[in-house]
Amino acid sequence: MKKIQISPSILAGDFSMLGSEIKKLEDGGADMIHVDVMDGHFVPNLTIGPPVIKSLRKYTNLPFDVHLMISPVHKYIKNFSDAGADIITIHPEATKNLKDSIELIKSLGKKVGLSLNPETSIETIEKYLQDINLVLVMTVHPGFGGQKFISKVLDKIKNLKKIKDEKKINFEIEVDGGINFENNKLVIQAGANILVSGTTIFKNNNGDIKKNIELLRSL
Ligand code: DX5
Ligand code: ZN
Repeated sequence: MKKIQISPSILAGDFSMLGSEIKKLEDGGADMIHVDVMDGHFVPNLTIGPPVIKSLRKYTNLPFDVHLMISPVHKYIKNFSDAGADIITIHPEATKNLKDSIELIKSLGKKVGLSLNPETSIETIEKYLQDINLVLVMTVHPGFGGQKFISKVLDKIKNLKKIKDEKKINFEIEVDGGINFENNKLVIQAGANILVSGTTIFKNNNGDIKKNIELLRSL
């Protein structure tokens, strides 16, 4: 099995010192940094935009895994690319022309992710699976950290893994929302190979980030 990668979400970090939070994540063994961008329109919450990402870029060489929960997303893709995003993940509902948005991300030399809300089917993005780098399967309704994992999404992860294996396509399967030390095993067994986590990494074991990252990675 491919090594399980951990993408900690800075949403659960201290926003007054995100630079040092990112350093702690890097020292703790994070494989990339998950940045949740929310617009108060596509999701009912607001977070950060390109200027913050740009100023965080100097704190680490780890890839920035930028999860855009904004609509319409297309016109902002270049701003996030310029700010230093490495992976740009968008929701299919957030763009008028998904193919154009995928092409734009690729033309900027960035990795493309497509995210599926709990109620969004694989069919919505199936014809693009050959062209993208990862599928971000939401295991909560996007908008807030600290929510409860929706276990019925496990079937979707299994189906996605099946399509990936049968068609021999190379996209990563990333999961996001409510991941903890119990359901990590379930999502890994279902086929996920990148785990996003905010609350579990920053708050468990008195904030022992290194330990929490190791525990999430292990079966
Ligand atoms: C939810 C975000 C998630 C979230 C994960 O909309 O996309 O990345 O911050 O946080 P936890 O691990 O606390 O559910
Ligand atoms: Zn996210």
